[in-house]
Order: sequence, then structure tokens, then C-alpha cells
Amino acid sequence: MCGIFGFTGWKDAAPILLKGLSRLEYRGYDSAGICMISKNRDLYINKAIGKVMELKNKINLSSLSEYTTGIGHTRWATHGGVTENNCHPHTSANGRFAVVHNGIIENYSELRTMLQWQGYQFYGETDTEVAAKLFEHLFMGDDFETLKKLTTVIEWAYALVFLDKENPGKLFGAKIGSPLVIGIGRDSWYVSSDYRSLIGLVDEYITLEDGDLFCIENNDYKVVNCGVELVRDKESITETEKHMELGDFPHFMLKEIYEQGEVLRNVFAGRIDFQAKTIRNNTLDEVVTQGFERVHIIASGTSYHAGLLGKQYLEHLADIPTEVTVSTEFKYGKQFIDKKTLYIFVSQSGETADSLESMKIVNERGGYTFGIVNVPGSSIARLAKAGLFTHAWVEVGVASTKAFTAQVATFLVIALAFGRKWNLEHMKFLSIIEDMQKIPVRIEKLLETSDKIREVAEKYASYLNFFYLGRSYELPIAMEGSLKLKELTYRHSEAYSSGELKHGSLALIDEYFPSIIINGSSPLHSKNCSSVQEVKSRGGKMIGIITSDDTKKDIYDDYLTFEASLPETEVFLEVIILQLFAYHMANTLGRDIDKPRNLAKSVTVE
Ligand code: AGP
Repeated sequence: MCGIFGFTGWKDAAPILLKGLSRLEYRGYDSAGICMISKNRDLYINKAIGKVMELKNKINLSSLSEYTTGIGHTRWATHGGVTENNCHPHTSANGRFAVVHNGIIENYSELRTMLQWQGYQFYGETDTEVAAKLFEHLFMGDDFETLKKLTTVIEWAYALVFLDKENPGKLFGAKIGSPLVIGIGRDSWYVSSDYRSLIGLVDEYITLEDGDLFCIENNDYKVVNCGVELVRDKESITETEKHMELGDFPHFMLKEIYEQGEVLRNVFAGRIDFQAKTIRNNTLDEVVTQGFERVHIIASGTSYHAGLLGKQYLEHLADIPTEVTVSTEFKYGKQFIDKKTLYIFVSQSGETADSLESMKIVNERGGYTFGIVNVPGSSIARLAKAGLFTHAWVEVGVASTKAFTAQVATFLVIALAFGRKWNLEHMKFLSIIEDMQKIPVRIEKLLETSDKIREVAEKYASYLNFFYLGRSYELPIAMEGSLKLKELTYRHSEAYSSGELKHGSLALIDEYFPSIIINGSSPLHSKNCSSVQEVKSRGGKMIGIITSDDTKKDIYDDYLTFEASLPETEVFLEVIILQLFAYHMANTLGRDIDKPRNLAKSVTVE
């Protein structure tokens, strides 16, 4: 995690660094800092605990017009507590070099001991400070040669960006495992953890690959890998600043919830021909004809929940046995990699370390990897043999919303592509396609009921524990709803198959422990109603997420409704109700909605 941003050019660096850091804040917001050099070789460092806004408040921009090169960092603490001493940028003992870092230097403890023996003293506890001191220790007069040496000594993961007080205008660094791009502007150069922080600043950028070392100086740059200077392809930025701005919304999360109808239109465009009622997509045509007999989905968090829905779709619509594994467990478990299995990696950021490392294992062992990714140019997108983008635009809120629905919609398209090729009955295929076209409008209609959802959320805001219940397609929705509640409200919640509750956890139910059941038009509707009765007869309160034509509304203490359709497509509406429920409750409780405590959006450390 952590976001790093660098700039060198003819403009004032400070406002640019602060803008870049604000855009990277989703990667961590424990502390932030900048370091800049002036043309006269003066060094300016400022750091603050907390968000970038705290740093902004400490900086007097008018006094910094001479500073045109700088690096900045927004931190998600891994090594060392959240203190100003541990805040990046970190400096060498002689104060000549400064560095920002994203990742973990695995052998930092041995290196720190070695440097202490050499007489270096440390002001903080971070692995990054070790990199700064080590750089000074290895320095023999040439920044780039020292960087080369440094990268043979430190063990990854890292994206590092240095500046040298004696060389104003110069930025240099290296990356393995953590993302880094170079933005190419007119006489101005940017380095960032995420190309989206460059939207509106440059039109083109290059993505650095693992093992790349770079140096920007004299209004030019070079990239070297394994001692060879090479040219990385330039990529264009297509998003506009509109995608990075709140507009009239109070929070990015709410904006992103409201974008979901449009996002699903994006997901379906170029894949589904609604006129001809068929799927048209070259990537899918290619994958479907590979003769895969099984699917293994690997992902974390919300993306894992999308994978669980993917399993439901692939098994029910395409008859393909599908396994879903949390990426951390995949990497350290026993892996059976074979050519008959399609390995699908799901990731909004495309940078989640656990998923990325798992993907590398499958690639190395000859498995066919397929990415469902939101961020073009991200590591998972680049390493996958094939894949589909989710086209959800930038997702800023730490709590994933539109990326989830886009992932689920992508799975539905994939399952239909496989199903049409193999076993799916044609009438069923057609009815789902017809229904999919209506989802965006249904979502937009559902969003009009947000006030009703807010009322129920407010009513339950004082409860400390919740169960989220569902079965079949609705179990992953329960799991996702429960995760949203936890991360946004800091309330405890657990998701269960409604049928499983009676095997032990029902003991927790009393009048202070409400449950939310997702009970649409599923074939298991009446079984779910029995679970409602089991909870109610133990004094538990029950909120139903049900269709507007449900005839059993009176069994619930409260209910929230959506328009009935097919179980395969109702999930989109159900999850949006749960997203809004968590959003409104968090708002009632005064939580920091876009940046919940302890979290970061992109988890780039294992
Ligand atoms: C959920 O709201 C979180 N943002 C988190 O669970 C996230 O889905 C997980 O860390 C995986 O991230 P990815 O999709 O970027 O790989």
C-alpha cells in the first residue's frame, strides 16, 4: 500500500505533489509528507500525521515557488507506528538523499543492524529509512550506479523514488512488485503509484515493469532493466477529471453507488448485442473454445465475493465445476495447476499483492490465467493471459461498490458465453439476456428509494451485532453486505447461509442481535422464510431484502424492496440496497465513509 508521487519540471512542485497525494490517498491515509529541492539546492521537508489535508494545512505554498522538484508519500503503516518520525519521505544521514517507498523491504532488519554497526543512527522504525541510509552508505559519486547496487542488496517488494539535493531536477528509482508509472508532460515529469492520479496533468504515461530502474533528468528519462536500456510503450489516459471529482455528492461512495446503472451499461457494451440477443466478444470466443473443464477463481475481499457469485453463474448456467479461493490461502495452500482449468483472477485495482503473487504461481506453472480487472495497465491486467476489463472507471471510495457489480456482471457474461457454447437451454439464455438489458433502469429506479433505506438504517444504527443471511445466489450478496457494514460502520456482522444458522450460531440471537435476510425470487424463498421464523421465535429482529410483490412481507420487522426479476439479475439490486444501508448507517454514526479507519483501498503488501 502507500501512494508515492514525484514531480520535476518548470512548475511549482508543492501544489502538484499535494494534488497527486490527495488522489493517491485511497492507498493509505495514516500520514503524508513531501520533500522538495529548490534550484539553489535547498531541501524542504514537511510531514503530518493523518490525511493529506493535515499536511496541506501545515504548508505555506506562497513561500515555495523556488521548489520545482519533489517527492511525496501517503502512508498505510506496515513497519513502525503512525508517528511523524516514521512518515515518508525519509532522508540519508547526511541529508543529501530523500526517498519515498511503497512495499516492504523484507531484509530491512538485517540491513539496519549492518548499518548500525557502521555507525548510522535511525530516527524511526521503518524499512524505508533503512533504504535511505543504505543508499548513502553505497554511494560512490553516481546516483544511478548506486541505485543499481542498492537493488541488488534489498529484497522486494518496492517502488522507490529518490531525489538528490546535489542534482536538482533529477528523480530516480526502481520497482519490483509495487506499481509505478512515469507521466510524460510538456517539460514536466511525474512519477506515481497509479496512472489515474495523473488524469488532467498529462495525456501519456509509461508503466514500469518489475526490475526496471529509471532516471529522469535534463528533461528526458531512461529506463534500464538487467543492465539494458529499453523503451517502454507509452499509454494514453482516456479518463477525464470528472471521474476523479465528487460533483454534487457528499462522498465518493455515494457517487459510485449511483454510477452503477451506467457502469453496467459499460460492462455489457461490446460484449452483448441486445438487438440480436447474443454475445459478441472475441476474448470470450477464444476462451470458450479452449476446452476448459473446470474454473478456479482467486480473489480477495469484495472481489472474492464477486467470485463466489461467479461460481453460482458458472455452475448453474454453464455446468462448469468452479472453485473459489481467497488469494492469501491460494498462495500458501497446495496448488493443483492443470491445463484443463481456467484460472480467473478478480481484482478492482489489479495490484492486490495476494492475488498478484497467486497469479504469478499459476503463470509459472503453465496454467491459463484470466483477469477480471478494473484498472487498465495494472499488474494483474498485464500478467494475465487473457481477460476482460470491468469498465467501472475510477473507484475512489475505499469500500468497493460499482467495481463489485461490474465484476458480477462480467461473470454473468462469461457464464452465458460458456453456457451458450455447451449446455444452457436457449430459452433460458434469451430470458437472461433480455433481463440484463433492464438492470440499469431497475437500478436507477431503486436508487430513488434511498430515503427509505436511510430510515431503516437509522433505526438500526445503535445495534452492535448483525447477521446477514442468504442462500445460493444470495449468500455472496449477504457476505458482501456484511463486509460493507463492517468496514463502514465498524459494527460487527457475520454472513451465514440462512440454513446453517440453526447449527450453532442461532444461540447468539436475542432482541439486541438483528438479522438481515436477502430473500428475493429465489427457489429457496420458502426455506428462507422458515429461517426468518426460527430467528423471530427466539426474539430476534429481522429485516427482509425482498421483492416488491412478495406476499410474506408481514413476517419481517422491517423490509426493503426491489423490483422482481430473475434470481440471476436480482442480485444487483439486492447488493445496492445493502451498500446504501451500510452507507446511511455509517453516515448516521458519523464515520469517515470514503476512508474508513485502518484500511486502504489497494492492498499491495502481503
Ligand atoms: C472492499 O470494500 C475492499 N475494498 C476490499 O475488500 C477489496 O475488495 C480487496 O482488498 C481486494 O481488492 P482488489 O479488488 O483491488 O483486488
